[in-house]
Amino acid sequence: VEIAIRPVRPDEAERFVVVAEMAFGKDAQGADRFAQLLETDRALFACDGDQPVGASAVLSFRVTVPGGELPAAAVTAVGVLPTHRRRGILTRLMHAMLADARGRGEPLAVLWSSEATIYGRFGFGDAVPCGDVEVERAHARLRTDPVPARARLVPLAAAADVLPGVYDRVRVATPGMLARSERWWRLHRLADDETARGGAGPLVAAVVELDGRPEGYALYRIEHDWGEGVSRAVLDVREAMGTTPAATRAVWEFLFGIDLVARVRASFLPLDHPLRFAVAEPRRLRMRVGDSLWVRLVDVDAALAGRRYGADGTLVLDVADDFCPWNTGRRRLEVHGGRGRVEPTEEPADLALDCAELGALYLGGVDPGALVRAGLVDELREGAAERAARLFRAERAPWCAEIF
Ligand SMILES: CC(C)(COP(=O)(O)OP(=O)(O)OC[C@H]1O[C@@H](n2cnc3c(N)ncnc32)[C@H](O)[C@@H]1OP(=O)(O)O)[C@@H](O)C(=O)NCCC(=O)NCCS
Repeated sequence: VEIAIRPVRPDEAERFVVVAEMAFGKDAQGADRFAQLLETDRALFACDGDQPVGASAVLSFRVTVPGGELPAAAVTAVGVLPTHRRRGILTRLMHAMLADARGRGEPLAVLWSSEATIYGRFGFGDAVPCGDVEVERAHARLRTDPVPARARLVPLAAAADVLPGVYDRVRVATPGMLARSERWWRLHRLADDETARGGAGPLVAAVVELDGRPEGYALYRIEHDWGEGVSRAVLDVREAMGTTPAATRAVWEFLFGIDLVARVRASFLPLDHPLRFAVAEPRRLRMRVGDSLWVRLVDVDAALAGRRYGADGTLVLDVADDFCPWNTGRRRLEVHGGRGRVEPTEEPADLALDCAELGALYLGGVDPGALVRAGLVDELREGAAERAARLFRAERAPWCAEIF
């Protein structure tokens, strides 16, 4: 049978969420919330006759890149029903989404992947390695001096007024972070209905003040467990950050001091997170490294010209891109005063790589030399990977604090 790809109509937002969730084997609890965030003009159905059997959507975001921010197509709600898998439906949806992003002038596409095997073929690279930690509170202690700070719990409605200001200060300095709308905060980040809770307690917002000003916050839930009469509760940190190193430490001092908590868990921490170094017993964090944000350069030249670089110099890149052939070719990146100029060239290449690997390197979170040693990037001139590392280096490791 013919499968037709078509846009989702404005009145089909909830139906869209039902189909996408069905592909994950879930019901559509919370569908109304996500339906309100959906940009229906960027959502697609794959239909068998009049029945939608596949879905995908793009949210329009701005993402921080080293030294600035760029518009990005944030791909989400990708799913194909189990009855229709492995016939190329996702491939067609992806072609449509990337062509549309290109038409809109978005140099980047980004996503979180359910499985690392899916998106490399479409040119996405694992750009933001991150760490999940779970530490017994009895051993959760910083070895730095206590920060003079004050924490206060605020109702979620009030949090919506305070948290975005703190987040934005962190966001502009941190590659990989997304600009959030007021709607996004309300319907997504601060959502606290039963679906959002997933069996845990209510979402708690704590604001940390230094010198009387909000400089950090934590959003967390407690998973209560009174087995054998002793609390074995887990404090699940949904998001925590500070605008300065001291503020960040103050947030974690607060979290580590909450009573009746046996373990503290946090996910998707950037690999340079101060906690890793300031904690008294790093081994007890039991940090597990995984992937978070995947990055695809929709327009390689615009993306390369759209970030700042860590050093001056030149680099000739031979890029292969079977899925978006307009990117294939050799180009010369020339950096002056941190700004990059990109032009096509016939010069011999320094590095040859697939677009997915360039996506992995793009935010500065992955060392080009490591990809050469892993057999994923070809170093055609000695020292080229080291030169690329100096150029692509960013001040901070990238961080994407939440799944979208
Ligand atoms: C992931 C999913 C959307 C793929 O859809 P699909 O229509 O089957 O994908 P396609 O047929 O276009 O697959 C294209 C290629 O990717 C491969 N592929 C697709 N999904 C894969 C997976 N989960 N693991 C490994 N390879 C996969 C296919 O084998 C195919 O390879 P080929 O070109 O060598 O034959 C679908 O399996 C699904 O809905 N899974 C459950 C929900 C989910 O994980 N969604 C992703 C959210 S980020």
